Amino acid sequence: MPKENTYDDHILDLNKGLDFAFRRLEKATKSRDDDLRFLVLATIDSRFNPQTRTVVIREFDKDNLSLRFHTDSRSTKLFEISSNKNISLLGYDSKNKLQIRISGEAEIIKIDKILKGIWGKMYPMSRECYRVTEAPGKEVNTIDEVIFEEEGMDGNNGFKNFSVVNCHITSLETLYLHSAGHIRCLYENNNNELTGKWIVP
Ligand SMILES: Cc1cc2nc3c(=O)[nH]c(=O)nc-3n(C[C@H](O)[C@H](O)[C@H](O)COP(=O)(O)O)c2cc1C
Repeated sequence: MPKENTYDDHILDLNKGLDFAFRRLEKATKSRDDDLRFLVLATIDSRFNPQTRTVVIREFDKDNLSLRFHTDSRSTKLFEISSNKNISLLGYDSKNKLQIRISGEAEIIKIDKILKGIWGKMYPMSRECYRVTEAPGKEVNTIDEVIFEEEGMDGNNGFKNFSVVNCHITSLETLYLHSAGHIRCLYENNNNELTGKWIVP
């Protein structure tokens, strides 16, 4: 059989396929140029229309089936999540021809100690976007009205706008593109275990 027509082992086994997706998500949290580092987050707005945008995956916890992203407390997405916790995240790993689609419930982390711990480990550059004086999404007349606060003596300016969202995975779908036929699997969360089944691609 020609090489391009053979499936890799992990694609043909539900558990191995999930393990591979987990490893890819874990790696994406550490590697700056990983395709899966940037996930498309979908929320539902107040008019029940879907809204999408890119977020960076900051942590993936396979034991608790959760992942984390950071955002501005004043952002539209946070308001949307506050009124509807059901979210979806989508990524495509072009090297492995793997699409990952996650459904989950968002939890906005309110515990100051956790927030401070994460903030303290962030690069100063990553903190800068939280120091914009007006709320993200607000209309301005000129770009000169977009003003950033100084870092502050303790580097904590902007912290009040910093939010962390945990996504508790309710289901995860993988789609491996392949010349011999795409392979699609759906894993559903039953008591914090993902149970997989094959579905038609
Ligand atoms: C590559 C990339 C990564 C981004 N990462 C984040 C992120 O981690 N968190 C975030 O709030 N916005 C991030 N953004 C900006 C969002 O996509 C979006 O434009 C912004 O947060 C406003 O979204 P909202 O109005 O729906 O809240 C990123 C944008 C790009 C292009």
